[in-house]
Amino acid sequence: MEFISGHAGRQSEIANLFTSTFTDSEGENEGKLVGGLVADMMQTTPDEDLFAFSAIDNHTLVGAIFFSRLIYKDDKRTVFILSPVAVKTDQQKRGVGQKLITYGLEQLCELGVDIALTYGDPNYYSKTGFRPITEDFAKAPLKLSQPEGWLGLPLSDSGHQPLIGTSQCVAALNNKELW
Ligand SMILES: CC(C)(COP(=O)(O)OP(=O)(O)OC[C@H]1O[C@@H](n2cnc3c(N)ncnc32)[C@H](O)[C@@H]1OP(=O)(O)O)[C@@H](O)C(=O)NCCC(=O)NCCS
Repeated sequence: MEFISGHAGRQSEIANLFTSTFTDSEGENEGKLVGGLVADMMQTTPDEDLFAFSAIDNHTLVGAIFFSRLIYKDDKRTVFILSPVAVKTDQQKRGVGQKLITYGLEQLCELGVDIALTYGDPNYYSKTGFRPITEDFAKAPLKLSQPEGWLGLPLSDSGHQPLIGTSQCVAALNNKELW
């Protein structure tokens, strides 16, 4: 399996992976919502605000993840949020997701990102180092419907201190249905 960065020339393939994976796991509506989110994210997010990483096995896309920038305008540190994550249905539970997230976090670390956040199942994301946080540590950009899913991982020495002020996510994530 190999891991690659970026989405150039592969937008449809990546969006289709999210649509089919989430349709299989959570139904057609969720598949459309997340596939649409990913297509929108790739189309509307400036390059410097988005990282896409893919897992390729045997020339086939088997997993993909996105990290997009969260701006804390009163804080100089660099923050990215991991969302969403998909591993092809017939390739799940083989470690692809964990390896891909670990790969992405290593890239972010090398690029000087201070803090990674995510919003999802703590049992799953704790496997790659994320820990539950509260909004005293990092304000969410929209109201969290499941605050127990708000998770963080410091990637630099300065990433251990709480983030100052309010936050703003990229346009594609600025949808209360997703939070
Ligand atoms: C969630 C998902 C990304 C995990 O990827 P994966 O490659 O199957 O996971 P891995 O093989 O790396 O890890 C498997 C481990 O995580 C656990 N796990 C898998 N999905 C989980 C979930 N949704 N919640 C909690 N634990 C989960 C497995 O039980 C397994 O645990 P073990 O190592 O103790 O046996 C994948 O199942 C998927 O795409 N699901 C549908 C879409 C989704 O829910 N995405 C996440 C929300 S954005």
